[in-house]
Amino acid sequence: MDNHTVTSADLNDHTKKNQTDAGLEANSTFVPVDPFEIVVFGGTGDLARRKLIPSLYHRFCDGQIPKQSRIIGASRSVLNRDEYLSLIKEAYLEFAGHENFVESKWKSFCELIDYAAVDVTKSSDWGSLGDKLDATETLIRVFYLAMPPALFSDICQGLATAGLAHDKSRVVLEKPLGRDYKSADEINEAVGRVFSEKRIYRIDHFLGKETVQNLLVLRFGNVLLEPLWDRDSIEHIEITVAEDIGAGGRGAYYDKSGALRDMVQNHLLQLLCLTMMEPPGSTHADDLRLEKIKVLRALAPINSSNVKEKTVRGQYVKGKVGGQAVPDYLTDVDIEESGAETYVVINAEVNNWRWSGVPIYMRTGKRMRARRSEIIIQFKPVPHSIFGPSIKVNPNKLVIRLQPDEAVNLWMEIKEPGAGGLRLKSLPLNLSYADNFTVRYPDAYERLLMDVVRGNLSLFMRRDEVEAAWLWCDGILQAWDEVEQNVSYYPAGSDGPEESNRMLERQGDTWSESS
Ligand code: BG6
Repeated sequence: MDNHTVTSADLNDHTKKNQTDAGLEANSTFVPVDPFEIVVFGGTGDLARRKLIPSLYHRFCDGQIPKQSRIIGASRSVLNRDEYLSLIKEAYLEFAGHENFVESKWKSFCELIDYAAVDVTKSSDWGSLGDKLDATETLIRVFYLAMPPALFSDICQGLATAGLAHDKSRVVLEKPLGRDYKSADEINEAVGRVFSEKRIYRIDHFLGKETVQNLLVLRFGNVLLEPLWDRDSIEHIEITVAEDIGAGGRGAYYDKSGALRDMVQNHLLQLLCLTMMEPPGSTHADDLRLEKIKVLRALAPINSSNVKEKTVRGQYVKGKVGGQAVPDYLTDVDIEESGAETYVVINAEVNNWRWSGVPIYMRTGKRMRARRSEIIIQFKPVPHSIFGPSIKVNPNKLVIRLQPDEAVNLWMEIKEPGAGGLRLKSLPLNLSYADNFTVRYPDAYERLLMDVVRGNLSLFMRRDEVEAAWLWCDGILQAWDEVEQNVSYYPAGSDGPEESNRMLERQGDTWSESS
């Protein structure tokens, strides 16, 4: 089988389980991957403890990871294997909880795990890592770089010099991939000297989410939407990724980054691409990625002449989220002064025949009223109302709720039953995940890690894709500097700064929740 092709078996991998069994018992319907070894650089870090190790454990419990596989945590901390095992167990119970933890399973999982203390800037440390790897070089070898991107180059160079990168190895690059086009290009060059493009897996964990993958199925598995999917029928598109959490705990990174680099350059632009791209010929990695790149390249540039009208930057001040008082951004990240945006809204446009003139409002923010990620397709009104001027006919709306309460709602107009004149009501055709599926939704990393082992690049970024996204974002970052566009403040627990509403009003639109 072509290992770049997502088969329907792959897409169903997680849903083939007995639908009444929401647990993690081994189930023969999961297709095991080939035996592999994975080295997690940053093995004691946040991502490894919260996401990567728990994801591997869940795949192991489902019988997808063969027992000959090995998982090697690598970091600077001098720990022995037992100390590492207790560190990851403690983290699992803290972050993933007790629900799926089975002591005997965890014990068998731990047999796969080892630890290597490696300072990636010291050439003397690479030998000890090499000793832990499969000397026969028959296992698929994955290097996962859950480290700051400034170290990617050193790590790849170290791997090459120590002779650890063989022809079955692949490298996974965590975001952020640089902080602008130039730094991303430098990193890509350095990594590319050691790994060929088809061995580089640039991760965007949003693509591992069930509901994000469902965008492909919704758009290309149904005949109904495509004829309406263009400038003739669609009035505007809203893409929202709102979080209720703050930036506390990762201030050192976040304050240098801000919402544009942290969320828009990757997650939001990926959602935009999947929503706006032309139908690809197949789910083959290059078919998919090529269509996404075309969208990124067609984004109308934002520069100093239009940035004030097309973007709003915000930063949260103290307020209440879910009834709980929370501090302002500066207190959260423990600094005295900062111009970093924790909220951004962008009025984007894709300049091509299908989309010309359709506003796309992309927004993301921390400490918003609630955690909510969704895509809203606002359709145009009917061209002529036969019901006369006194009866309001609301335009149709498709709401794709990505998280939480995953659902697809198509809002339609219907006649309200009863005597006493004609009344119209907007009601949704509701396709709720909770009502239809009882399977556990795997964490995005579970799917993506298995795809790396399977050699399936479809859900990973190609070099030119990341770079096209940076080029567009660089225009905005540079324009913000040039026109000195500062942040507007919004209370934690709100929907963002008032300016964001005004931006839509200028176009004659309103955010969906306020209409
Ligand atoms: C990360 C960002 O990539 O995505 C974080 O760095 C953000 O700032 C996170 O909180 C959101 O991911 P999820 O899966 O929790 O929606």
